Amino acid sequence: MSENKKEIVLSGIRATGNLHLGNYFGALRKFVAIQDDYDCNFFVADYHALTTNPDPSQLHHNVKSVLAEYLAAGLDPEKSTIFVQSDVPEVAEMYLLLNMHVGIGELMRTAAFKDKARKALGLSQADDDNDEAFEKQIIGADTNKRVNAGLLTYPTLMAVDILIQKATKVPVGKDQLQHLELTRRFARRFNAFYGVDIFPEPTDFDFGGAPIKVPGLNGSGKMGKSEGNCVYLIDEPKALTKKVMRAVTDEGPQSPNAPMSEPIANLFTLLELCSTPDVVEHFRSAYADCSIRYGDLKKQLAEDILKITNPIRERINDILADEAYIAKILKNGAERARQRAADTLNEVRHIMGIRKF
Ligand code: TRP
Repeated sequence: MSENKKEIVLSGIRATGNLHLGNYFGALRKFVAIQDDYDCNFFVADYHALTTNPDPSQLHHNVKSVLAEYLAAGLDPEKSTIFVQSDVPEVAEMYLLLNMHVGIGELMRTAAFKDKARKALGLSQADDDNDEAFEKQIIGADTNKRVNAGLLTYPTLMAVDILIQKATKVPVGKDQLQHLELTRRFARRFNAFYGVDIFPEPTDFDFGGAPIKVPGLNGSGKMGKSEGNCVYLIDEPKALTKKVMRAVTDEGPQSPNAPMSEPIANLFTLLELCSTPDVVEHFRSAYADCSIRYGDLKKQLAEDILKITNPIRERINDILADEAYIAKILKNGAERARQRAADTLNEVRHIMGIRKF
């Protein structure tokens, strides 16, 4: 390897809906910042989205909108390889090959699988405290309430995304760390089984500092698609302002320097992310001396969020309207992503004994 070769970074996002402020601060903004220093690869995971059997036209639309949102937020196709997972068919073949070295037990034990399987079976969290009972439920599930095999092998597919590009740095959220751990295990296992050194073991990308947790507007927990508490990058100003104005608060500080309830602390966290330090300071001292009016805080917060999202939303809409531009970027991205994928797949086939006569 030549000395000036940049480290390979790869990350994907499932095409399951629009991107929100949590995605922006937690991922996109950081991706944008590292584009010059790493060999960056960012993709839209449409195969992964299929595990929950989405409506086909909805899936197609989601792929397009996530892509537009990536680009609008500042991912630069000149600097990074930006592509759609299914445009790299080598991934599908290597997924088949790698599955031969993956245990169904270790897949069944992953937290994300349990969670989704539980949902598919209509079980509550408490029902699978007992692993044995849970496994019985899965095996015994009738064909209408099945837990599909794609859900089970989700980690294999994710490992292939990473390993086929030989990525070493994979920025992911906390909920994906277990999948990354499995990826490392699969890489080690494959290398050891065949006595080769083809796969590096990828680690989470360390951006330094404390991880950013973006809270939602409903008073508790982080912003998440499934929580219904999101501010989306694509939200129109009026709707966005309305949402923020409706954010959960409390009855107000009852005494000077009172501790903050979670809903209020969350609003301050958002303010810290989106507003200037003097604005934050102003509302902090207003809270401390009990003169704060939450309506004013929310109005300011909505304005400052819009300063960030307005230009992004405009670019998203421009990009969505330009099919030719999207097609060109994807063609180029797929070509670049396929080069390395094809090389790795060839190596893997050869190593496993699938050879040309
Ligand atoms: N599973 C990831 C998520 O839901 C998305 C993903 C798929 C991914 N393949 C990947 C992330 C490879 C990083 C690398 O967020």
